[in-house]
Amino acid sequence: MSKILVTGGTGFIGSHTVVELQNEGFEVVIVDNLSNSNIDVLNGIEKITGIRPAFENIDCVDYVSMDRMFEKHKDIQAIIHFAANKAVGESVEKPLLYYRNNLVSLINLLQLMPIHKVKNFVFSSSCTVYGQPDILPVTEDAPIKLAMSPYGNTKQIGEEIIHDTIHSNPFYRSIILRYFNPIGAHASAEIGELPNGVPNNLLPFVTQTAIGLRKQLSVFGDDYNTPDGSCIRDYIHVVDLAKAHVLAVKRLLNEDANTNVETFNLGTGRGLSVLEIIETFEKVSGVKVNYKIVGRREGDIEKVWADPTYANEVLGWTANETVEETLRSAWVWEQNLAKRSKSE
Ligand code: UFG
Repeated sequence: MSKILVTGGTGFIGSHTVVELQNEGFEVVIVDNLSNSNIDVLNGIEKITGIRPAFENIDCVDYVSMDRMFEKHKDIQAIIHFAANKAVGESVEKPLLYYRNNLVSLINLLQLMPIHKVKNFVFSSSCTVYGQPDILPVTEDAPIKLAMSPYGNTKQIGEEIIHDTIHSNPFYRSIILRYFNPIGAHASAEIGELPNGVPNNLLPFVTQTAIGLRKQLSVFGDDYNTPDGSCIRDYIHVVDLAKAHVLAVKRLLNEDANTNVETFNLGTGRGLSVLEIIETFEKVSGVKVNYKIVGRREGDIEKVWADPTYANEVLGWTANETVEETLRSAWVWEQNLAKRSKSE
């Protein structure tokens, strides 16, 4: 049984990936400093899989503690590196926090890998690296555009650091995954998205408005060059996204299959507007969402959706869940959270 280190393993995508890894028989060690997640996530993972993963409360920026962690958990075969700050707006206000946390943690891991004989590295990147693509759907070879935020820049620089490191030392093997917009929750509703404070992202804001935690959802702009004027994204079920990580790890562990670094889009291939998401959510939940059209949000891309053909052909991966099912899972999760907070 291969042992996988998952940094940020109690976070949104991380926790769903830990479940899929454990379901496939991998042994998981989570490193997370709980800066944007809750230790209770481990209970959810255990309820779903019957296994409580090893957990270390460590900040990946702390090189010495990470070194000790590798000493303690010997024979790690691969790393999936989720741990990072991800709020676009906050990154504009606190750029150094983002450069430090997102890049120092990456550098620490890459430095520690050869010392502890860990070859394989999966990196969480983002469709944000494409900016507004000239051609849609966007393929992996589309040009990287100037980053719109320090957060986006950390993903671009992160990818470059990985390429340069591998170029200098062919010991490493890496898969870079560019996520489109992950939403939804595990079908068990034991784990899901749990943003701290006021959500930045669309879906948690939609579900929190529907349940009555927020008065009104602001739709940022209806004057874009899209059919209904609102922005278009490629919303992907987090469990589909999680499964791609398992395939990426398997590909890295299969020595023959990989060139040293490969990059994959992880999206459905289908773009939906903000207003279409709201309408579909209302249909599957039976709840009206109180929303208002407001001005554009600074830095938003007008439209982007993935061409996932490469992940399909090489990783054997496709996004299977419908957007209806995905939105339903997010709603069940939000309702479950409300039940839990009532009983506390
Ligand atoms: N939106 C609203 N109202 C809201 C929140 C969002 O109308 O309250 C709109 C946005 O304007 C955008 C769409 O919903 O058109 C999606 O916005 P999100 O904030 O959910 O996600 P982004 O597409 O902005 O993605 C960004 C980065 C990603 C990053 C992601 C999660 O580009 O790299 O946030 O942090 F992964």
